[in-house]
Amino acid sequence: MERKIEKLISEMTLDEKLGQLTQEVTNVSSIDKLSKLAEQGMLGSCLLTDTPWAGSVTMEGISVSYLNKIQRAAVEKSRLGIPVMYGCDIIHGSKTIFPIPLAQAATWDYDLIRDAASVMSEEASYDSIHWTFAPMLDICCDPRWGRIIETPGEDPLIGQMFAKASVEGIQGKDMSEKGKLAACAKHYIGYGASSGGRDKDGTEWSDYSLRNRALPAFKAAIDENVATVMSAFNEISGQPATSSKYHLTDLLKGELGFDGFVVSDFDAVKRLTCQGVSDNDETSAVLAINAGVDMDMADGLYKNNLKSAVEKGLVSMSVIDEAVRRVLRIKFRMGLFDNPYADENVSPEEYMKKEYLEKAKQVSMHAMVLLQNNGVLPLAKGTKVSVKGPMAEEKPALLGSWHAEGQADDVVSLGEGIQKINGEENTFVHPCTQEDMYCNDDFSNVYIVAVGESEKVTGEGCTISNIELSGRQVDCIRAAKELGKKVVAVIFAGRPLAITSIVPYCDAILWAWHGGTMCGEAAAEIIFGDFNPSGKLPVTIPRSTGQIPICYNHQRNEYVKAWYSTHHRYVSKDSLSTPLFEFGFGLSYSDYQYSNFEYRFNSACQQAEISFDVTNSGDHEGYEIAQCYICDIVASMSRPVKELKAFEKIHLKKGETKKVTLTLSKDDLSFYDGRGNFVFEEGEFRIEIGKSSSNICFETTEYISFES
Ligand code: BGC
Repeated sequence: MERKIEKLISEMTLDEKLGQLTQEVTNVSSIDKLSKLAEQGMLGSCLLTDTPWAGSVTMEGISVSYLNKIQRAAVEKSRLGIPVMYGCDIIHGSKTIFPIPLAQAATWDYDLIRDAASVMSEEASYDSIHWTFAPMLDICCDPRWGRIIETPGEDPLIGQMFAKASVEGIQGKDMSEKGKLAACAKHYIGYGASSGGRDKDGTEWSDYSLRNRALPAFKAAIDENVATVMSAFNEISGQPATSSKYHLTDLLKGELGFDGFVVSDFDAVKRLTCQGVSDNDETSAVLAINAGVDMDMADGLYKNNLKSAVEKGLVSMSVIDEAVRRVLRIKFRMGLFDNPYADENVSPEEYMKKEYLEKAKQVSMHAMVLLQNNGVLPLAKGTKVSVKGPMAEEKPALLGSWHAEGQADDVVSLGEGIQKINGEENTFVHPCTQEDMYCNDDFSNVYIVAVGESEKVTGEGCTISNIELSGRQVDCIRAAKELGKKVVAVIFAGRPLAITSIVPYCDAILWAWHGGTMCGEAAAEIIFGDFNPSGKLPVTIPRSTGQIPICYNHQRNEYVKAWYSTHHRYVSKDSLSTPLFEFGFGLSYSDYQYSNFEYRFNSACQQAEISFDVTNSGDHEGYEIAQCYICDIVASMSRPVKELKAFEKIHLKKGETKKVTLTLSKDDLSFYDGRGNFVFEEGEFRIEIGKSSSNICFETTEYISFES
């Protein structure tokens, strides 16, 4: 393959090379222009949209035959026959929509995340898509940012799991297999920590924070052979990611050994002028290519400026050739040279197959988090219930932002889901309106109240400054309680919402996210006990907007906490520093008992091991997620107060006990020291085993060292 690549490069003109480094936007009327470029050997890739919100608009008019026609021009009519790569944002489903990525992270389940990615790739491949701009791996603890929905949340380890599982699902073991796509780890790097949660604002992160918090997920994706990486819009402490040689070339391609290609985000090269590091397009293009951005998305700056830049000596031919080499390498790995065309006769029955919908329901059920329950749940089937609230019949919000070809009409709403599971005769669906928050009825004593947020306030470009429940939703829940009803709140949201004001009025709270096509049915199965909830929060839920940013793995601050609790009389300790629901939290219908803890250092394997038993002492079979946190007590740098380092999701029948062993390797106990070195410092570590980041069942402090 490398020989073929070198031969092609030696035969290519500079125009052809720059064509390979360009991704053009596509719309219904661009077929002639794109076919011509393809024929001239100057079309590297097409983005199957003409807006940066590709994931939330359908590709109407861009059919498989349309794309095959352009491909034929490239493969059969161009001088060198290099195929075009079609890219699109398939983020959490193509037609069968899975829960948003943040919700998928709440499953803590590698296999489910991998399977969801695999189904979405399969469906997308029927539409001639070769490449998806997923997974998004930005670590985020600011729910004001609308794009938190696309992230795996606030934790580096969950980020790593999400990265590996998604890349495996999208690419498989071999990207050239049918139904597999090239993945794109994005947005490299630091986009999830933009100032004030404002989309595309700058990130003020030291290399220490960046490497310890943001880098692990990207590293995991690279270890899984992710084909491409997208450079982010944001700047990091003054350096735009898209013009950062340190981040793209030295760190990503050098230190981490990434051998695929880097694509810029939509117009990110052009935006370098807005970020003030360039005052014209040529300089922007030169900065980006020299930094290590191989393919230019949408803005056309490479094809329009790099030829003259090469002639002026601003960019060397070896830099251009290296970028082309990387793009061609991925096209070969994808098998595009052998199979450039998509089947134009895929039957509509191939989409939303029964097994896909079943998988979407499974992922949705595993993602839902039971936050409160005074025993009202599960309800017995046949209980008379009223389904209330502004989202009782909601569909578009359940699909969520970045829903690709997913259709609201295909979504099962909460009302429909409950009618299916509980019988129409037992279920009265009666959404409340802004005018009639009481929407009183005598049909039942149990009100299932659906509240949350619209998909329109989540996703790209959506930053909000207040994360409380909007409108009169709190009134709606309070009204139900004042009527003397049992209140089960079901929350459909794409981000943590500060629901402090509804907590006192709810008998149960089920966090259902924007859970995809099967979300309503999944919630109904949990409410009526067909599935025992097991999701755990991958992100902290704050008490109020003012607590942001708040995350469980913050830097050490024991002194501040102690000081506030003894000296500061006017601020209650809780409202200042503890969240409403902590990272890792989630209830079950069962009780799980932890016992027989044993710590040992396994010298043969050079790892610390903590074994314990988990017993299901409740009345329902279910899944428990046992979590292991560590704290490096004294280190050369201040380390987080705690960090998740291992976990296991265990299935337990009623009364069953299973032995769990969680392990900690040298890498697990190492960190980046602020000068770019990944170091292990021998000494004392606090190790905790718990059901969440603050519900700890066992704690030990051990002196740990490893043989070198
Ligand atoms: C987004 C990316 C997306 C790209 C292409 C950009 O605006 O930031 O996440 O992949 O558009 O649609």
